[in-house]
Amino acid sequence: MEYLTIPSSDLVVSRLALGLMRIANKSVEEVEKLINVSIEQGINLFDHADIYGGGKSETLFGEVLKRNPSLRNKMIIQSKCGIRKGFYDFSFDHIVNSAIESIKRLGIDSLDILLLHRPDTLMEPDEVNKAFSYLYNQGLVRTFGISNMNSMQIELLKKYVEYPLLFNQLQFSLIHAGMVDVGINVNMTNNRAIDFDGNMLEYARINDITIQAWSILQASWEEGTFLNHPKYQKLNEKLAQYANQYQVEKSAIALAWILSHPAKLIAISGTTSPKHLVDLAKGVSIKLARPEWYDLYLSGNRLLP
Ligand SMILES: NC(=O)c1ccc[n+]([C@@H]2O[C@H](COP(=O)([O-])OP(=O)(O)OC[C@H]3O[C@@H](n4cnc5c(N)ncnc54)[C@H](OP(=O)(O)O)[C@@H]3O)[C@@H](O)[C@H]2O)c1
Repeated sequence: MEYLTIPSSDLVVSRLALGLMRIANKSVEEVEKLINVSIEQGINLFDHADIYGGGKSETLFGEVLKRNPSLRNKMIIQSKCGIRKGFYDFSFDHIVNSAIESIKRLGIDSLDILLLHRPDTLMEPDEVNKAFSYLYNQGLVRTFGISNMNSMQIELLKKYVEYPLLFNQLQFSLIHAGMVDVGINVNMTNNRAIDFDGNMLEYARINDITIQAWSILQASWEEGTFLNHPKYQKLNEKLAQYANQYQVEKSAIALAWILSHPAKLIAISGTTSPKHLVDLAKGVSIKLARPEWYDLYLSGNRLLP
């Protein structure tokens, strides 16, 4: 496993993280196995949200920790708040209550990282700061970040929030790479030139914000993963070619493509299968050469201008 030292914090985080969005219908034994395999692979970052499984994902994870208390000190536990039924909510009450409820469900003393899940256009940034201060001063949350935010929203928060925003969690994969597309198609008039996130890749590098990539293999809820999906035939052929060359599964190449970018992203896997996780983790040590990286990028129906 490779680890990143996160600036302005004492966090040293594995570049592959486990996301727990999909575990709610699993048994405690299945989740226990998944967590144990993750730890064996060197994963130390575990991503939750108050809403995953309506809270059940955190409760299940907490059950596993209750059975294996020694696992806690091998983990950096992250959760998210701010999404409610029908609206987004960055109010003091919601942020504080949500974090406290996550901590209770997980059965831990504090969260290592709390992220704001999706931008609440009605947010008052000084209210966010008050909520963060309360949680930090009570020893309930150690560090903070955001998710699905663009650069100007982060600038606005930074004006008021006195804690460093260490992470921005964003969708990113071989088929969802607007952050890269926009940097390659500067000044062009095609759709790949559309900036969806305020030059996030460059902004994050300039501001020492580590991007956590979500849905690294998932195309959409309807399509499922792009692996072996007929709509992404050309991409799958390329993945198979490099998988054969590096003697790994295609998933590992898709991961290597994300982690080989010099912006040094973290990738969050949402697999619930220990075997898939082990196959995927082999990609962490693969450093794709520049021509290989571009070859994979272009196989996702892209052209260089
Ligand atoms: N911030 C946000 O707004 C946001 C949004 C979505 C997700 N997230 C976070 O990101 C995490 C990952 O998201 P995701 O679940 O959409 O990502 P993902 O890792 O791209 O998707 C995993 C899905 O792909 C399937 N899959 C099929 N073949 C696989 C293979 N060979 N290797 C690995 N997986 C394979 C998995 O099924 P199997 O279980 O059968 O492997 C699973 O259903 C979530 O758990 C959550 O923590 C954050």
